[in-house]
Amino acid sequence: MIITIANQKGGVGKTTTVVNLSTALASIDKKVLIIDMDPQYNSSMSFNSYDPKLSIYKVFSNSININDAIQKSQIPNLDVISACEDLAAAEYELAEDENRNFLLKNYISNLNQSYEYIFIDTPPTLGLLTISSLTASDQVLIPVQCEFFALEGLSKLIKTIDAVKNNLNPELKLNGIILTMFDKRNSLSSLIEKEAREYFDTNVYKFNVPRNVTLSEAPSHGLPAIIYDLKCSGSQAYIALAKEFLERGNNGI
Ligand SMILES: Nc1ncnc2c1ncn2[C@@H]1O[C@H](COP(=O)(O)OP(=O)(O)OP(=O)(O)O)[C@@H](O)[C@H]1O
Ligand SMILES: [Mg+2]
Repeated sequence: MIITIANQKGGVGKTTTVVNLSTALASIDKKVLIIDMDPQYNSSMSFNSYDPKLSIYKVFSNSININDAIQKSQIPNLDVISACEDLAAAEYELAEDENRNFLLKNYISNLNQSYEYIFIDTPPTLGLLTISSLTASDQVLIPVQCEFFALEGLSKLIKTIDAVKNNLNPELKLNGIILTMFDKRNSLSSLIEKEAREYFDTNVYKFNVPRNVTLSEAPSHGLPAIIYDLKCSGSQAYIALAKEFLERGNNGI
């Protein structure tokens, strides 16, 4: 199953979710690949896997085969395809290519190894990199930060997902919405949660990710929080979310 993590709002927890959900699934023997489609390459860095020579951009520019771009991470069962800054250029380099939205899907179909889950991390934009990730995916998972205006951008994202469904990938389903950086002492967090659950109902994951400083510190050690400090509240939340992710299975809507 291929899952894109998307939200055009920056800093909402896309990368943190990709990194920790993938690690939680890999640690229960699921074979997982992360494809970093964000020119900021934060997911790649989180595993010490940043390598511009092996990046997905090199695959897009036909310099390497996608199978040669795969790097093993330090976590068993978890492989990574790195991003690099040049990936930002793909947006205009491929602008004239009629097939541009389907390129990533085609590369993924050339993978020699089979993965139970492929997670695609995307940049905070709704351009080619995100659209081609959605086109290549079975499902989309949306992290939403519990802050003011959080829900405003969501309608634009949902419209974009619908447009991809209608024009490029009829099979695309919404896996769910994960509320991130939830602060139970802050009434705004609870208000956003209430609104999100009223509006998106069971599409919202039961577990929220709390605001937890360890989640933000772990990447500087080149480790997912789940490995860096399993006991912290953020790691425990992502383990609970991984269980819920498995329960949801292929039942996205
Ligand atoms: N639950 C959390 N508690 C505290 N800090 C968090 C939490 N989730 C993410 N962060 C921190 O917030 C910042 C933004 O998170 P992250 O990089 O995951 O967001 P993003 O949506 O991928 O951002 P971008 O849009 O730039 O790619 C990072 O510094 C991250 O470490
Ligand atoms: Mg990110």
